[in-house]
Amino acid sequence: MSAPAIAVDGLQLSFDGTNDVLADISLQVAEGEFVSLVGPSGCGKTTLLNLCAGLVAHTGAGSIRVVDQAPREGRPEVAYQLARDCLLPWRTALDNAAFGLQVRGVPTDKSRERARAMLAEVGLAGYEQSLPKALSHGMRQRTALARTFSMDATLLLMDEPFGALDAQTKLQLEDLLLRLCEQHRHTVLFVTHDLAEAVAVSDRVIVMSSRPGRIVADVPIDLPRPRSIRELQKDPHFHELYAQLWAHLESGWVKHEG
Ligand SMILES: Nc1ncnc2c1ncn2[C@@H]1O[C@H](COP(=O)(O)OP(=O)(O)O)[C@@H](O)[C@H]1O
Ligand SMILES: [Mg+2]
Repeated sequence: MSAPAIAVDGLQLSFDGTNDVLADISLQVAEGEFVSLVGPSGCGKTTLLNLCAGLVAHTGAGSIRVVDQAPREGRPEVAYQLARDCLLPWRTALDNAAFGLQVRGVPTDKSRERARAMLAEVGLAGYEQSLPKALSHGMRQRTALARTFSMDATLLLMDEPFGALDAQTKLQLEDLLLRLCEQHRHTVLFVTHDLAEAVAVSDRVIVMSSRPGRIVADVPIDLPRPRSIRELQKDPHFHELYAQLWAHLESGWVKHEG
């Protein structure tokens, strides 16, 4: 068996040397797996992604390995997508979608070719020359998805990519993400505060407690794939899993407050 894409063992982190942000986090994400992290605001979800991306240095106890190495910024194996779409306002949708590849030194022609194909996959054929200001929030987030998936990284880190969208657009983009993952089979570590979203897209959901973030549950999502957001809403097991996650989340709050 190949090494896990992410292996975190007994990890502890504090920014000021006294108050822990993360306490004794152990988790593994297998190659090809889609794992979500949920937990109260401030419990350290973004910090954990930043550690994986090499943007925050690990200074405390425990260990972290990402695609077989200590985390390091700028690795081609790892792509990071944030809640904000982070599109460059002066670049067209095509050149925004190609930007990640261009930063990695892929020639303009090649990167545009790949980005054009990805824009078509996310439903934006015909919008290649549009500037971000001419795109809706949903279309901007589709462009950001095209940029992320263009990069062909082994591991995608996604921090609440649909957090700022209206409910309907969010459901459409969750469906799109399901299709992109079926097609491209990356490993994904996905942060969301939306439990229904976590159930819909994941193979496994990890629930964290309030700060200092600990893992309170690791729930396998045994819903068959391929999935469709519309069909999931009618599946009683989807709602059972949602209720289970909600109970774990509450237990993480109670422990902290008590
Ligand atoms: N660079 C930093 N320096 C000091 N404190 C930080 C830094 N980044 C995050 N924190 C603190 O760490 C905790 C976890 O933050 P974060 O990972 O952003 O939580 P989440 O994404 O779960 O909402 C918060 O209390 C936050 O204020
Ligand atoms: Mg966060």
